Amino acid sequence: MQPSVAERRPQSFDRVLSSMCTQPHPAARRAAERFLAANPGDPATYETIAELEREAVASLAEITGLADAVGVDGDTEARGNIGVRENTDSHGDIAAHGYVTSGGSESNIQAVRSARERAESDDPVVVAPESAHFSFHKAASVLGVELRTVPTDDAGRADVDAVAAAVDDDVALVVAVAGSTEYGRVDPIPAMADLAVDAGVPLHVDAAWGGFHLPFSGHDWGFDVDGVETLTIDPHKVGRAAVPAGGLLARDPTALDALAVDTPYLETASQASLTGTRSGAGVASAAAAMDELWPDGYRAEYERASELAAWFAEELRSRELDVVDPELPLVAFDLPRATFEAVRERGWRISRTGAGEARVVVMPHVTRGSLSAFLDDLDDLDAPR
Ligand SMILES: Cc1ncc(COP(=O)(O)O)c(C=O)c1O
Repeated sequence: MQPSVAERRPQSFDRVLSSMCTQPHPAARRAAERFLAANPGDPATYETIAELEREAVASLAEITGLADAVGVDGDTEARGNIGVRENTDSHGDIAAHGYVTSGGSESNIQAVRSARERAESDDPVVVAPESAHFSFHKAASVLGVELRTVPTDDAGRADVDAVAAAVDDDVALVVAVAGSTEYGRVDPIPAMADLAVDAGVPLHVDAAWGGFHLPFSGHDWGFDVDGVETLTIDPHKVGRAAVPAGGLLARDPTALDALAVDTPYLETASQASLTGTRSGAGVASAAAAMDELWPDGYRAEYERASELAAWFAEELRSRELDVVDPELPLVAFDLPRATFEAVRERGWRISRTGAGEARVVVMPHVTRGSLSAFLDDLDDLDAPR
């Protein structure tokens, strides 16, 4: 007989090496539990969670350079979620610039939807590097837009010339990736932004995974780059919030207004989120995690994870495995198929890139101890029998 739900335990993170989810911060866990039944999708009923969402958006705005770029901070009066349009002056309130989504997929779909709503062409096209997350394929399918993917360069970053060649009058959005899912690569965002500005189209940056590392890495990636109009950044990944907590931000609130629909039976005028009822747990935990960790905790994690990724890459190289040089803390490396299968047999939760390399995402739960144990298993499998 199956054990009951109460008897089952979530699986341990000890051997999880390729996931972009991680253990929530203890403060995030506590906040999630307290706000389990609150619905940020109905801010006129659930006022406290609406206030926490404002705070979460204000933190995300600081992390991504949006607060500086638009000259507003989180100190204005709490006014509920971004879908609340009537009786609000959206300009000057950072909450009008974003909301807490269900994750990177929703944020990316919404960014494409917003661009489509504002496009001049009847056949809008989104141009993205082939390294873009598969959520853009979902967006294209759901929204009926063409996704035009262009090759990356040898290092796995968007090829700016290829992007330029793909931009024509139908293009409604250019996508750049800041921390690619497979290799952790950061596209040349300033050059792509220049190109987008010249073409008169918005640039969307997908920093779903990379966004909590990039403030410390020296890359140009956020709203301080002119031309970056919308951005995805997920608290439920490196941000250490509970699942689900994504983030969508827009330089100009009209990008979110383009998503709003009227909500006749609610005491608020409209709603811009894709889902209706949303997770209070996700919103509260995002606010709590960023409260605890921004900036020092995230900086410390960036430094720890980067050092660990560099060490792990070196260890793999010393075993004569080909390693893709890590840019952010994600290590992709060649591993013979049989070895890959054997380590999975030993319980390692590891996955492969489309090209077949094994990839280790150095998330907060991944430690020197766990990576040493993984290397010991590799050595053991390699030992003559
Ligand atoms: C760069 C990037 N964008 C978007 C997503 C999708 O995020 P989610 O799974 O939270 O929808 C991911 C997921 O790994 C990602 O790595």
